[in-house]
Amino acid sequence: MRLRLGMVGGGPGAFIGGVHRMAAALDGDFDLVAGAFSSNPARSEETGRSLGLDPSRVYGSFEEMARGEHALPEPARIQVVSIVTPNHLHHAVAKAFLECGIHVVCDKPLTTTIEDAEELCHLAAERALVFALTHNYTGYPMVKEARARVRAGSLGSLRKVVVEYSQGWLRTLLEAEGQKQAEWRGDPDRAGVSSALADIGSHAHNLVRYVTGLEVTRLFADLGTVVVGRAMEDDATVLLELEGGVRAVLMASQISTGERNHLRLRAYGSDRALDWCQEDPDRLRLVGPDGGEEIVFRGDPSLSMEAQSATRLPAGHPEGFIEAFANIYRGVAQAVRNSVATAAVGPHAGVGAASPAPGLDFPTVRDGAFGVHFIHRAVESAARGTWIDMTYEPPGKESP
Ligand SMILES: NC(=O)c1ccc[n+]([C@@H]2O[C@H](COP(=O)([O-])OP(=O)(O)OC[C@H]3O[C@@H](n4cnc5c(N)ncnc54)[C@H](O)[C@@H]3O)[C@@H](O)[C@H]2O)c1
Repeated sequence: MRLRLGMVGGGPGAFIGGVHRMAAALDGDFDLVAGAFSSNPARSEETGRSLGLDPSRVYGSFEEMARGEHALPEPARIQVVSIVTPNHLHHAVAKAFLECGIHVVCDKPLTTTIEDAEELCHLAAERALVFALTHNYTGYPMVKEARARVRAGSLGSLRKVVVEYSQGWLRTLLEAEGQKQAEWRGDPDRAGVSSALADIGSHAHNLVRYVTGLEVTRLFADLGTVVVGRAMEDDATVLLELEGGVRAVLMASQISTGERNHLRLRAYGSDRALDWCQEDPDRLRLVGPDGGEEIVFRGDPSLSMEAQSATRLPAGHPEGFIEAFANIYRGVAQAVRNSVATAAVGPHAGVGAASPAPGLDFPTVRDGAFGVHFIHRAVESAARGTWIDMTYEPPGKESP
């Protein structure tokens, strides 16, 4: 059964909406049948036309779309909506569709306030709807392999984690030139309380949680605005303490000249270390105590089930961003089908499924709430110049 998908955002010139459409299409699980692609109805229409959608399913606003889809007979109505607007709209859009019984895939950060994030956790749990958050880096096979190896104890006891997400595209005041993506990221009304940390630091935070299985227990943040005239931070360094006293450093920077999308995670255990970088995503580097290296590659039959089932092509044929994103959509398709099949019985609680098939796990609304909490506490720590306690439990049920 192919699932009927709608989209909010992703109009002309948008970045991530097109990636979601490619990812959703990759495995033939979804048909895009409806959308409100822009705040400008004419531009929404233009996108709908270019995608070949039925004009009656292309809406001038997300409110109109939620009402219009809800009014359709159930076999025609969308089952899942993808939210790919700037941050400040995620909450209102997600709420409107959850209230109509529609499953949600939302881009990060989940919301701009903790209260809004928690409301979405409650709503998804109450309605037993699937809610995925596209921290897409968890979809890479070698990130799943890194997690499997940490879980199996192959590093020994974990001691230190270093995660960095460095970009250089905001090393000048690009927002003053009207660049679409820079404009809203530098505007507190649309980005939220943070810019660089919310935009890419949230991915780094989620990656640490995913690979180590540990939550942050306290943090100390330094947030800086390097480019003169910018309204928000463009460079962040955060010291973290993880459960069990594991030490960690998180760097998120958009003024690191020459860097493109340098997301790199290193984890140091008592016996071994691991090193993964998303600009070379098919390799996972393992290092022994004497510095001896072992490189494991995506596609190797000795890898974990999680890594293997998140892999589409034989080793040596590169996979990348779209495939990792598509792994999230594949997990969502499985979870939605399970929820349809088990109707009232399914313990979805806003998460993907009680036990997703190996490799088909995906970040959830609760992961999103952890992320929003992290962003707000880091902003608070930077303002106060102190360590901040991070004890937190979002509403809803445990993630898988
Ligand atoms: N997961 C990732 O790797 C990743 C990468 C980039 C962006 N993002 C996230 O995706 C979201 C969008 O980012 P982007 O870079 O694609 O932004 P963008 O500016 O390129 O696109 C945003 C789109 O939303 C549309 N929009 C704005 N208001 C709207 C409304 N009221 N109704 C319908 N559509 C509306 C805009 O017209 C535009 O088409 C952000 O939350 C961002 O943090 C995630």
